[in-house]
Amino acid sequence: MSRKILVTSALPYANGPIHLGHLVEYIQTDIWVRYQKLQGHECWYVCADDAHGTPIMLKAREQGITPEALIEQVGADHRRDFAGFHIGFDNYYSTHSAENRHFSELIYTRLRDGGWIDRQTITQAYDEREGMFLPDRYIKGTCPRCGADDQYGDNCEACGASYSPDELQNPVSVISGETPVQRASEHYFFRLQDFEPMLREWATGEGLQEEVANKLQEWFDAGLRAWDISRDAPYFGFQIPDTTDKYFYVWLDAPIGYMASFQDLCNRQGLDFDAWWRADSDAELYHFIGKDIVYFHALFWPAMLHGAGFRTPTRVCAHGFLTVDGQKMSKSRGTFIMAETYLRHLDPEYLRYYFAAKLGTGVHDIDLSLEDFTQRVNADLVGKLVNIASRCAGFIQKRFDGQLGPRLDTPELFRRISARAETIGGLYEEREYARVVREVMALADEANQYIDEKKPWVLAKDPDQAEALHAISTTGINLFRVLMLYLKPVLPRTAEAAEAFLQVPPMAWADAGQPLLDHRIERFKPLMTRIDPAAVEAMIEDSRESLKPA
Ligand code: MSP
Ligand code: ZN
Repeated sequence: MSRKILVTSALPYANGPIHLGHLVEYIQTDIWVRYQKLQGHECWYVCADDAHGTPIMLKAREQGITPEALIEQVGADHRRDFAGFHIGFDNYYSTHSAENRHFSELIYTRLRDGGWIDRQTITQAYDEREGMFLPDRYIKGTCPRCGADDQYGDNCEACGASYSPDELQNPVSVISGETPVQRASEHYFFRLQDFEPMLREWATGEGLQEEVANKLQEWFDAGLRAWDISRDAPYFGFQIPDTTDKYFYVWLDAPIGYMASFQDLCNRQGLDFDAWWRADSDAELYHFIGKDIVYFHALFWPAMLHGAGFRTPTRVCAHGFLTVDGQKMSKSRGTFIMAETYLRHLDPEYLRYYFAAKLGTGVHDIDLSLEDFTQRVNADLVGKLVNIASRCAGFIQKRFDGQLGPRLDTPELFRRISARAETIGGLYEEREYARVVREVMALADEANQYIDEKKPWVLAKDPDQAEALHAISTTGINLFRVLMLYLKPVLPRTAEAAEAFLQVPPMAWADAGQPLLDHRIERFKPLMTRIDPAAVEAMIEDSRESLKPA
């Protein structure tokens, strides 16, 4: 049965470049989407830049440009980088859009009319020189616990304490250097606590990761509290209806950006938005996110949707954080690698494969070990997978005029390998990519072993063995084709090159079972080259370089 599936990745902030940490998420999502499309499901993948908020406003000011100009530039860079890694969005939009304003106002007014918006006056740090309230991250001072200097307004990096900004000693505004004053202002709050029964119910749905379910339980036990959804001017965002100086907090309109991006896609593709978003929709909705933003996606977002009369997410799929050589990405070590820098030195499919080989359903962090990366890609992709084709293609080309034979030499081997399609498909569905990779490489070992045993290079010397040679080479090429199909979600460009070599239309999941016989193929060209360790070195050097102040 064909499914209707809408998939999102978290919206990257429009104030910095895409780096390899981000790519864990976009690659993970893209693989899943490509798999669903190969299955023939109606699957749409949307994303956008997250364009609002104080950091973006201040960064634009610092550069002497408007926030609109900044998000335009950064948006173009993001699109370029994602395209470079073959992230196949069906739509990439911006939260600073008419559609997003429309849905933000709609959801807000429905929540307000439902009685779920409170107003309350609160006191916060205010920078009188700048004329603005200061988010916690824009206040620094002395830690009230351990006395360490230069700590942020919300937590201490020296002793790990968290506190509220008014406990910080000798506070200064990071923007002006002035001492902030306390000032009162009216804020708008979303009554999250009213949604606890609904959220508990939602959280029992199938497929919530164990770690996420446990986190939710902790939050329920601690008690849900109303969420502050407003910010005072000056703020780069959408004004709250019926106010003149209040704006939606960026995290209110950010997830609504998923809807806005999809609406924009609907406008262009003639899709029916409501069929995907109405409360009783039979479409599926999947959000891929990092573990740091579970709170927003598993509490606020389903509650907002429900309160406003829309459907809730089918699943929230959280992943862990990227480390490089066992440590946090670091600018000084050259391991804070931007997408753009990587692409200057290495093929994006190497990284797609490596991340796939490390990703599972869990939310634990994943490590990019540079030595393991090189070794693994070279051994698996070049040494095992592509090798199957290169060992057989020459015979087909030279001895049989590029024509595959009429029969397989060992049909049961082909059948056994192509019968794995269902298992491997199930692993993709559950985001168990590491197990997909392990499974496919074990099958590649079998295929290579088969060729080792049959020794086509020996048969090639004996004119009487031509038919056997033909059947064996035909089998090898067919095994390669099925394995390439299995990795097509991970390696879309290599799969495309393989399709050109095999002279077949784009492969779909259902093609696994049917062997390719009596069929002309192209001359074999290496489908992938080995990683040169020097290129990895150069990328690290370049990452140090490109972050040096100009
Ligand atoms: N703008 C918010 C998301 C709004 S979604 C409605 C945001 N942006 S972000 O640019 O900081 O991160 C985008 C995604 O990339 C998040 O899911 C985040 O968890 C993920 N990652 C950012 N850095 C990462 C690593 N170092 N490792 C793995 N994922 C990382 O959060
Ligand atoms: Zn401290």
